Amino acid sequence: MSASNPRLLDGKALAKKILSELKIKIDQFQPKIGRPPGLAVLMVGDNPASAVYVRNKEKACQKVGIATMGQHFTGNATQAELEQVIAQLNQDERVDGILVQLPLPKHLDSIALLRCIDPDKDADGLHEVNLGKLVRSESGLRSCTPAGVMKILKEYDLNPAGKKAVVIGRSILVGKPVALMLLEANATVTIAHSYTSDLGAVCREADILVAAAGRPEMITRDMIKPGAIVIDVGINRVEKEGKSKLVGDVAFAEVAELASYITPVPGGIGPMTVAMLLSNTVQSYAKKAKD
Ligand code: GUN
Repeated sequence: MSASNPRLLDGKALAKKILSELKIKIDQFQPKIGRPPGLAVLMVGDNPASAVYVRNKEKACQKVGIATMGQHFTGNATQAELEQVIAQLNQDERVDGILVQLPLPKHLDSIALLRCIDPDKDADGLHEVNLGKLVRSESGLRSCTPAGVMKILKEYDLNPAGKKAVVIGRSILVGKPVALMLLEANATVTIAHSYTSDLGAVCREADILVAAAGRPEMITRDMIKPGAIVIDVGINRVEKEGKSKLVGDVAFAEVAELASYITPVPGGIGPMTVAMLLSNTVQSYAKKAKD
């Protein structure tokens, strides 16, 4: 099947809907819990892309009534200092979610820091306990971008069961967890990466292609099976015709000619990541009403 008119998987619209549902949920729980949900966002250094992501996350929190306890550290913050802050946030009753914005400056050990977060406050789903639960298909906090991918597929009734899914990229943030989630949803999953030979041939097998390599417009038309569902996780800032522009890992215009469904960049998976972060925070918050 070839689709000259692919359907856009509109992450922006879906994220907006999720945010309004979260707001309702927060309003319901607040009288019982006696405080709003709280999310602590830790950012270290001044990576400009991270600064934009953090701002977007904090703005979204404000919209739904999640209190943010943002902490911005200079690029020379130490491991011990950050570990101490996380330990305090773990104890802080007002905090339901803790997020360490990645990437961190090179002198810091991000895995060790993520390990310090209380798994019940791990709004990003990157603690080894939550990743372990994903491996075991147990319920737990799921990492946000992969959860956003699965949510948008569900919204458009695109069931991965029995489909061939190819994930490009094997990061702990996206590639590995999204592959596990697609597997959990009964897809037949291949993970491709920088050592994969004949990437084009691997991609052409995909009924669902998830591009999470972080390389601008690397997925071209010749790598697409006609009718494929194409999910673009990349957010790359490039200079085009003298202007700064955001592009995904997929060459959108040419791939859209063959795909049946495709996510735009911006407006696709980016807003879904934020929505899932807030959803995880509210999930941890709502548990307090039951405790
Ligand atoms: N850097 C880019 N995306 C993300 C994300 O979803 N979470 C964190 N913590 N860092 C990121």
